Amino acid sequence: MAHPTSPSPSEFRPSVRVGALGVSEILQIGARAAEMKRQGGNIIILGAGEPDFDTPEPIKAAAAQAMRRGDTKYTALDGTPALKAAIAAKFQRDNGLTYETNEITVSTGAKQVLFNALMATLDPGDEVIIPTPYWVSYLDIVQILGGVPVLVPCREENGFRLDPQDLEKAITAKTRWIILNSPSNPSGAAYSAEQYRPVLDVLLRHPQVWIMADDMYEHILYDGMTFASPAQVEPALKSRTLTVNGVSKAYAMTGWRIGYAGGPAALIKAMAVVQSQTTSCPSSISQAAALEALTGDQSVLAERCRSFQERRDMVVSGLNAIPGLTCQTPEGAFYTFANCAGVIGKTTPDGAVITDDREFCNYLLAAVGVAVVPGSAFGLAPYFRISYATSMAELRDALARISRAVAALS
Ligand SMILES: Cc1ncc(COP(=O)(O)O)c(C=O)c1O
Repeated sequence: MAHPTSPSPSEFRPSVRVGALGVSEILQIGARAAEMKRQGGNIIILGAGEPDFDTPEPIKAAAAQAMRRGDTKYTALDGTPALKAAIAAKFQRDNGLTYETNEITVSTGAKQVLFNALMATLDPGDEVIIPTPYWVSYLDIVQILGGVPVLVPCREENGFRLDPQDLEKAITAKTRWIILNSPSNPSGAAYSAEQYRPVLDVLLRHPQVWIMADDMYEHILYDGMTFASPAQVEPALKSRTLTVNGVSKAYAMTGWRIGYAGGPAALIKAMAVVQSQTTSCPSSISQAAALEALTGDQSVLAERCRSFQERRDMVVSGLNAIPGLTCQTPEGAFYTFANCAGVIGKTTPDGAVITDDREFCNYLLAAVGVAVVPGSAFGLAPYFRISYATSMAELRDALARISRAVAALS
């Protein structure tokens, strides 16, 4: 038998940077729930980060046409000229932001945009401020690249938004980036221009800090709130802001894998270097589809947003009716982030004590077959995230089950 400290040369050994990461807790919960479902369990999975709608027909038709036309080859490295022009027009139309084509990049999903930007800029030890609760990929990408995530809690009392004083304290000479995400996955919190103002004022005083504005959920914003993007609110920050967006959530195109960004030309160029050695270019057919999404009829956005808002309202009131749970009303995205402090310390019918939000989520899955994600997976406890991008009937059933499970605690 090989000595434990000297494994055989053929034995698999992950790189240090990847070995340090685990499989995302969200994926683990999803996999466990899916397995229970496969075995015949009556399971409701409220973990998915994607709209339940289908991609609109005109977008599919544009993709089919592109295929028939022979748009089946490599494209320009970081996006076709036609798609870049459409993205520039989108930034102008929706955000009042002017970007030239050399200030625009297109990637295989917004996730690749973020990865490219961080890969192109982070050196070991560089710090990235991540407001918490965060989308898990921010943390993992920064860690893979040898950066240092600096987590700044966004308290519930502050609507899960960043307190400017907390931000000020977190900034050091080594801070390279801050990642702002409004509306947020997982909290659903969004910033109006006024709410962004004090945060951006802090950033104005620290020129070494670049701003990654993840505007992915721009079009899923409720109650008539006007969307605000950092470079639009404070034009003086535009020269160090990467405005990230994509078609995944807005147009129900998660599988097409197209994300994009506008930012300073030097950064965009460095990101293209990264892309050139990973995916070469985004899918030609998906780019044609994204072009149609951004230039075609936009009425689908408001329609779908209304449908999400109905579901939000039902889930928030359903959760608040359950003793022990409280839920703020999120301004956007399709997630609720409910507080479960009231059930911590209680005992399940099997005699187990619920010690934290992870245990609560495990209990919900085991006892009533509802899969949700603990807040601790997003860096803030004790909470749990529900993705309500599913049917009203399923949501109603899930809320009834959660209510039953909570009532059974003593
Ligand atoms: C906040 C946020 N940003 C970016 C993304 C990435 O989206 P995509 O890579 O599908 O474009 C997601 C997806 O879940 C997200 O929730």
